[in-house]
Amino acid sequence: MTAKVICMASAKGGSGKTVLTATFGAFLASALNKKVLIIDTDAATNGLTLMHLKEVMNQAVIAKDKKRTPRGIYNLENIPLDNIPLDNIPLPTASYLEIVKLNNGVDLIPATYEFLNTENIDAKDYLSTLKPVISHFRQMYDYIFVDAQAGSDIYAQIAMSHAISDEVVIVSEYDPMSAAGVERLKGLFHDDLTPMRTWMLLNKMLPEFVRSFSDFLEVARYLSPIPWDADVVRAYARRKTALNLNVGNEYTLAVMKTLRMLLGEEVAQEIDLWANHRADVFRRPIKDQYEKLEQELEHIFMERKRREITNAKRETIVKFVLLLVSASMFVFIYAVAPDYPIIGKMLFFATSGLTLLLFTKLPFFSWLAPTHESDSKEETDKLREYRRQAYLEEKLRKLEALKDADFETIIKTDNNSA
Ligand SMILES: Nc1ncnc2c1ncn2[C@@H]1O[C@H](COP(=O)(O)OP(=O)(O)OP(=O)(O)O)[C@@H](O)[C@H]1O
Ligand SMILES: [Mg+2]
Repeated sequence: MTAKVICMASAKGGSGKTVLTATFGAFLASALNKKVLIIDTDAATNGLTLMHLKEVMNQAVIAKDKKRTPRGIYNLENIPLDNIPLDNIPLPTASYLEIVKLNNGVDLIPATYEFLNTENIDAKDYLSTLKPVISHFRQMYDYIFVDAQAGSDIYAQIAMSHAISDEVVIVSEYDPMSAAGVERLKGLFHDDLTPMRTWMLLNKMLPEFVRSFSDFLEVARYLSPIPWDADVVRAYARRKTALNLNVGNEYTLAVMKTLRMLLGEEVAQEIDLWANHRADVFRRPIKDQYEKLEQELEHIFMERKRREITNAKRETIVKFVLLLVSASMFVFIYAVAPDYPIIGKMLFFATSGLTLLLFTKLPFFSWLAPTHESDSKEETDKLREYRRQAYLEEKLRKLEALKDADFETIIKTDNNSA
């Protein structure tokens, strides 16, 4: 195992290096089962250490209980560093470090456990510490992310250098001042920040810029940009990342796209596999719901068909009964009183017709020929049924698009709209 060492750097402070270091680590460890080490080398802010303050403090207690002195990357100054052969592996310095095991599977080396002023540490000591540490841990991890200090001072320069990292990701916001800062950084360290080993990652981009920006992504060494996302700010306030590996979100999707580009074809395939697997999990309840609604719609159609058949049957019976009654009356009149005057016969017809009409008020007849009241109730029921049918058809149409959709489509479809 030889880890790829990636330095997260920036020209200006606050561009999002620390959050991205934590997020990349969490995604690779939790979703892809990679072994990831993140190192806080930011002497100015100790941002990664502060983000995991609780875990760091817990580790300090554990170490002290075991009579160890907890040491972060900037706590090694007491160890005699003279004469340490930089490329000798493994080196004793690394074993002095107290590693924090985070819940998401990522390992963290804090800047310091004692919150000393890390900016006073001699750069030579820092380099001669960091280099053997990186060499040592390369053998144990898949990825090592170095959260560097913003700007161009010596700590950042060392973290970005060939001596420490394989690749550098310059995290920047999308504005002219940040762009000028990046150009300045590239100018200052042109030997280290060569196009071959340097990536640009635009973070906190407004969504409308992300869309237009994606057009020229392929031509420059730009990573897929990360949009500005309120969830990141909310999560950061709770010392968390905005990743959601259970049901996904737009931020997770953006991070996946960035990592696909940063880590090459093999990891891209693993990410796609993971996304397909997740999509499968998301699709299951959608499919279930689809089937349920489809059954309900089918039930409505069958009910309607059944009603139509019953109505047709009733109509036939009514017609038959009327025909029978008229015919028998005819026969009756001519059989019983063939000599009656025509007016008498008509009168007889009229009174028997009236009697028949009165009979229709009986329950049996109202079943055969529904009354006005039962008519209007049936109309209301029918209307309700048509409305339900329209609702079901619309819902099924939306779910139809989702039940076979990929991870991205599912995430981008507003859950409430389907
Ligand atoms: N994609 C994003 N959308 C919205 N806010 C973000 C995003 N990424 C980072 N932020 C916010 O930006 C702020 C700075 O982030 P972070 O500390 O990671 O930057 P940094 O580059 O490490 O800063 P420093 O140079 O001070 O170490 C935080 O408040 C964080 O919530
Ligand atoms: Mg930071």
